[in-house]
Order: sequence, then structure tokens, then C-alpha cells
Amino acid sequence: MINIQKAAIIGCGFVGASAAFSLIHKGLFSELVLIDANHKKAEGEAMDLSHGRPFVKPVKIYAGSFDDISDCSLIIITAGANQKPGETRLDLVHKNVAILKSIIPEITGRGFEGILMIVANPVDILTYAALKISGYPKERVIGSGTVLDTARFRYLLSEHLQVDSRSVHAFIIGEHGDSELAVWSGANVSGIDINSFCELRGYYDHMESMEKIYRNVRDSAYDIIERKGATYYGVAMAVSRITESIIRNEHSVMPVSSYIDGPYGLTDICLSVPTIVGQNGAEKVLEIPLNESEKKQLCDSAGELKKIIENLEL
Ligand code: 2OP
Repeated sequence: MINIQKAAIIGCGFVGASAAFSLIHKGLFSELVLIDANHKKAEGEAMDLSHGRPFVKPVKIYAGSFDDISDCSLIIITAGANQKPGETRLDLVHKNVAILKSIIPEITGRGFEGILMIVANPVDILTYAALKISGYPKERVIGSGTVLDTARFRYLLSEHLQVDSRSVHAFIIGEHGDSELAVWSGANVSGIDINSFCELRGYYDHMESMEKIYRNVRDSAYDIIERKGATYYGVAMAVSRITESIIRNEHSVMPVSSYIDGPYGLTDICLSVPTIVGQNGAEKVLEIPLNESEKKQLCDSAGELKKIIENLEL
């Protein structure tokens, strides 16, 4: 039996701990299990977070084991090596697929029936690997994908246009990584297309600004890692927002990574496109209009991921 109010986070590094911190502020769960290969680390995080309990909605946070996860509604996997300065997300693939191969059987072996959310990188490859290793239905395995990149995009556009980022509607899709793309053709501010809104603000050098904003988004993680060694708050907030849509069954449209076989002419791959997210996970992949250049970029992004998937031994 699924307990909708119970979740587990596997991997209590910066990303896992920050996700826990963000989640307890949302008040979605009454029980949060923290699991880490270093049990003492999980214990420390659970203690630290629990000391803030009087400030949030009641939630029991504890360091647990895989025996605690069978009735969770959601398991979030952040375990894995993270990027060092100069490394790409794809450089992490072998290490992190191996870690996933040891974790997934622990989950499937315990009759878990909820949603599996992959956050570790390279997230699209790991989402694909988790799906294949677990044998779960495709809706139940999702990756945090380009939800963070899309937030970065909306933030940068909002700064450029001096408007609330929540009023900016625009997506980054494809790989959560170097081959991702911005869907400029559909970008708008409350229904006003992005170029017209730029002009409203006195900007006319569209090509140059678009290129700069896209590059900023794509290279954000490198820029942060160079300065502070890792990224974690942004992705943690993305994770808690996706979680909210799952647990509250909001059917929000988000660019999570999920299995795609057909839409956009893509086959047998996991990457991010706008998707309806609810209690059943990635409930429906949406085919949004793309121009010819965007279609090609999405295809190329899928091609980059395919090259890696083809060499995986799952
Ligand atoms: C990020 O984009 C590293 O994937 C992580 O912040």
C-alpha cells in the first residue's frame, strides 16, 4: 500500500540534503526517509533537519535503509558522483550507472509501487537506465530533466525584460546538458511573443540577446561549479516543485525527462519535453510546435544521448 505522505531520498550529498530542506518547507510529507551509503551522513542530515521541525508542518525525518521504502509514494535518487570543474555531465555516466545498478534492485525487490525520480547526472541516461533496470511502466520513472534549465531560462529572460519570471512562458528541452535547446519559437510573456516583448522594453538586437541568454542557461552549471564547486539549491527547488505536482496531482506541465518512443519522431530514449506531471508520474508527453531549426536541434540532442545509450550494458 502506498503512503502518499511518505517519501525517500537516496543520496544525502549537497543535492539530496538541499532537496530534503526544500521539501520539508513545502509540507507535502509527514515522513521523509534519508538513505546514504554513508549512514552517519544521513543521520547527521536527519538530525539537523529535524531540529527545524517546530518551524514547519509536522514531518518525521530519519536516516533509514531500503527496508523503509516499500510504502513510499516517491523515491528521489540523487546518489552519484557530481561534476568536477571541467567535467561534463556525460563524463559521469559509467560511475553513476554502476551506482544505479546497485540501487534499483534494492527498490524493485521491496515491492515499491510509487514514482521514481532520478536527479543524479547524466540525468537523461540515468532515467533511461533506471527504467530499463526496474522494468517499471514508463510513467513511473522520471528525471528532473530540464526543469532547472527552464527555470534558469525564465529567470534570465525575466531579468532581461524586467518582468516577473512567473509571467515568462518558455522551455528548455532535450538533454539536461550541453546539447539542450531553447524553444524560442513559442517563448512569450503572458501571450506576447518574446520578440515583441523585447521591443516593448526597447531591445531590438534579438539574435544577439537570444544567443547570449541561451549560452548563459546552458553553461550555468559550469559557471557555478567554477565558483562554488557544485550546484544544489536550484536543482533542489526544481525537485521539490516536481514533487509538489506529483503529490498534489496538479497535472502541471513541466519539462521532466521521461521515456519517449514516437513523439517528435524520437524513439527509445529519455529526454525532456513538456510533460503533464501528476500522481501517476509523467502522465502525458506533449508535442509542442517547434520550428525546423528547433526540430533539428532536438533530434541532434537525442542523437548525442543515443550514442551513449547504445554503449550501456543494462
Ligand atoms: C545543474 O545543472 C549540475 O545538473 C546540475 O546544476
